[in-house]
Amino acid sequence: MRKKILLTGANGQLGNELQKLAPSYPQLQFFPTDIDTLNLCNKTELVSFFNTNKIDCIVNCAAYTAVDKAEDEIETCYRINRDAVQNLAESVQKQTQIIHISTDYVFDGTGNTPLKETDKTNPQSVYGKSKLAGEQILMKIKPESSIIIRTAWLYSSFGNNFVKTMIRLGKERDSLHVVNDQTGTPTYAADLAKVILAMIVRSEENGIFPAGIYHYSNAGVCSWYDFALKIHELAGIAAGKVHPVPTSGYPTKARRPMFSVLDKTKIRETFGIVVPEWEQSLRQCIGLWCAPDQAHFAISAAGE
Ligand SMILES: NC(=O)c1ccc[n+]([C@@H]2O[C@H](COP(=O)([O-])OP(=O)(O)OC[C@H]3O[C@@H](n4cnc5c(N)ncnc54)[C@H](OP(=O)(O)O)[C@@H]3O)[C@@H](O)[C@H]2O)c1
Repeated sequence: MRKKILLTGANGQLGNELQKLAPSYPQLQFFPTDIDTLNLCNKTELVSFFNTNKIDCIVNCAAYTAVDKAEDEIETCYRINRDAVQNLAESVQKQTQIIHISTDYVFDGTGNTPLKETDKTNPQSVYGKSKLAGEQILMKIKPESSIIIRTAWLYSSFGNNFVKTMIRLGKERDSLHVVNDQTGTPTYAADLAKVILAMIVRSEENGIFPAGIYHYSNAGVCSWYDFALKIHELAGIAAGKVHPVPTSGYPTKARRPMFSVLDKTKIRETFGIVVPEWEQSLRQCIGLWCAPDQAHFAISAAGE
């Protein structure tokens, strides 16, 4: 029998990438939902959904991801990033597996060595604190059947993200300033989606669901400035438009970690995953730009 996979927040960046891959996994049956079809903040709706549908594994891509806005919308942010995770964990059967996505923003970013799953968390923003609260509640309720994947600097051909913003601004402006003292690694959501599905398939094959926290981003290290330069180069935007600026010269409402490179050893060794270099994945994503059928890559003026 095919394993039944519920995708929540399926209209977001990661959710769309998972839906795009679904036809390549005929052994899995997908149920994509989003806030309009399954609102995780509504526990009654959740209980009724799980009474009607037998789900084997949930990939929870639903989240409140507006990092700066969260500083003002604290309750809404916690309702989605913490309370909705609790609703989900409490509404499903004991054996239902949950793969939940979290963030590098659970760290304060004061170190300078790649962050391991066991490193001390100390979020500096409302978003980071709410995501950590979501992790903690999930691990309290379902420690044996939950996997948390912390990822970072996510982008995709779907939705709004840094890559699209840099391309749009590169076309609109002669010059733009991007911070060069925050260090991390971008993550192509399509790569993360592949990893999630590989984790599900391998766990099924091995008969073991290795619950716990895992870190995943692409490989390599860069600053937002390096990332922006590479985006412009690959998108064919004239060189010389991007200028480095320190974090102090680009104030934002939410404080971001200065160093949030994730150590991927655990996920690589547990699941035998090969992690692509960030430049290689960025090239692939921007390559979609030129494909005639990629209407979803239209750049929204709303940006991030
Ligand atoms: N984006 C990043 O840079 C980044 C970095 C690190 C980690 N992450 C984590 O990675 C995961 C996926 O991120 P993403 O960028 O794909 O997010 P996204 O594009 O913002 O998608 C999130 C989706 O969840 C939906 N949603 C919001 N509230 C919901 C609710 N109550 N019930 C059901 N669905 C709801 C959203 O709908 P609406 O759009 O209608 O609100 C949206 O479709 C998240 O857990 C995020 O915290 C993201």
